[in-house]
Amino acid sequence: MRVYALSDLHVDYKRNMSLLQQMSDIEYVDDVLLLAGDISDDLDQLKTCLAHLRAKFRFLFFVPGNHDLWVRRKECVDSIAKFWRILDLCQSLNVSTNPAKVGGSGGAAGVWIVPLYSWYVKPEEGDCSLYVLKAGDDPTLSMWSDNRFTRWPTSDNGESAADYFLRLNEKHTRRTYDAPVISFSHFLPRTDLIFGSGREKIAAGKPRKDRHPRFNFSRVAGCTCLEQQIRRLNAAVHVYGHQHRDRFRLINDVLYVSHCLGYPRDRIAEPDGEINCVPKLIWET
Ligand SMILES: [Fe+2]
Repeated sequence: MRVYALSDLHVDYKRNMSLLQQMSDIEYVDDVLLLAGDISDDLDQLKTCLAHLRAKFRFLFFVPGNHDLWVRRKECVDSIAKFWRILDLCQSLNVSTNPAKVGGSGGAAGVWIVPLYSWYVKPEEGDCSLYVLKAGDDPTLSMWSDNRFTRWPTSDNGESAADYFLRLNEKHTRRTYDAPVISFSHFLPRTDLIFGSGREKIAAGKPRKDRHPRFNFSRVAGCTCLEQQIRRLNAAVHVYGHQHRDRFRLINDVLYVSHCLGYPRDRIAEPDGEINCVPKLIWET
């Protein structure tokens, strides 16, 4: 059994949906896919995508990303309600959103897959923000669509969205697992992952132009509390998405992997121009 990573399919783009539909129907039938969020804010599109991938893989795991939690169609009262509606959808499709052990038969040790729900912490919201200074940036994030399309209920105890999701993970991060752990989230757990290493920059080809110099991604990248949960889990691998930058980096004994399809416009600068929706192999049992 092989475990693969993929994220940010953004199937609202017809080109992305088409790439997804071209993925092999037979290659992965014994395998596991970790889908690290940002499929679509449209529940019908999300359902189509999950059902499509579920048919291709033996096991499919999913965590929602920020785009999935947008509320644009009055389909839910707020983004928390939409989160739970998506989890119900996953359950109806036999898509896993809770920890499960895979590949543990026939003498193989198996591996635990632990989905971690998450949201980002802006610098003004707390110490666990991944914020780094960017000269001349816009602190109001006026161009950031989450500001318009996410809606959070008022919390009686002042709990933030990030705290809400981290709290849901607690019961899974405070137990022991009898096999190696692979965790995954949509958001980034570490500031250093925002920036490409030398090898990652070479793999990415020509540097992309900063099309939004006033946008500082680190304001909405993730949170370090997620990293604490990953370390508590003693995860061997952590998969994430969100930034649309591929990473494959070992840091203090955890392999961090991001493997995104992203937006078609992001792919124009890629070296060979040939794009496939091929998931990244991260584990074999
Ligand atoms: Fe995305």
